[in-house]
Amino acid sequence: MVEHLQNYGVFRSKKVAEVMETIDRALFVPDGNAPYYDSPMPIGYNATISAPHMHATCLQLLEENLQPGMHALDVGSGTGYLTACFALMVGPQGCAVGVEHIPELVSSSIQNIQKSAAAPLLKEGSLSVHAGDGREGWPEHAPYDAIHVGAAAPEIPQALIDQLKPGGRMVIPVGSIFQDLKVVEKSLDGSVSIRTETSVRYVPLTSRESQLRSV
Ligand SMILES: C[S@@+](CC[C@H](N)C(=O)[O-])C[C@H]1O[C@@H](n2cnc3c(N)ncnc32)[C@H](O)[C@@H]1O
Repeated sequence: MVEHLQNYGVFRSKKVAEVMETIDRALFVPDGNAPYYDSPMPIGYNATISAPHMHATCLQLLEENLQPGMHALDVGSGTGYLTACFALMVGPQGCAVGVEHIPELVSSSIQNIQKSAAAPLLKEGSLSVHAGDGREGWPEHAPYDAIHVGAAAPEIPQALIDQLKPGGRMVIPVGSIFQDLKVVEKSLDGSVSIRTETSVRYVPLTSRESQLRSV
């Protein structure tokens, strides 16, 4: 998979390619799916695991803010794949937190991570996954150097901006039918700038009830 993405020029970062090779996507994709195919795949509950090229893109956009010892938040952590990658990058002195509002996905993501190369970090506590409304972030481990949001928000939740550290960066899809991947940066004086990276298509960042309505 990594070689395939490399051939398509997706990887600018050797570190991100190494991390995605170390965290085996096959452990996170439900049985019956081709794990290394570059496409989102259904994981139940109207959710998907994002395509590998989107995982690579988001990791690369956040790489400078995923250095050893840093704090990272993954909102809408789904299968836990990206949270596990974050944990590997920030290491045992750092902190990687996943927040997912479907409790069943929280349990299955923990089982996935336990089988992966990030298992020791979960055991030691530098990696954790929690059930909750990710629009509220996860104040316990804030402020964060890196925030990733894995579902499209109608607008950027203020709680996530508040939990971003000065010097921190957030990657978040924004919009409904037409969505843009936004890069939000908080400068050291606390001012916030937002730019558009690319157009994307994600499931909505919403309430649990509204996500489950059509299951
Ligand atoms: C594209 S999916 C999973 C993405 C994840 N990065 C992955 O690749 O496994 C987006 C996830 O966001 C979750 N989600 C949607 N709204 C949420 C909310 N308000 N709080 C927490 N999670 C939410 C969904 O349940 C879903 O698992």
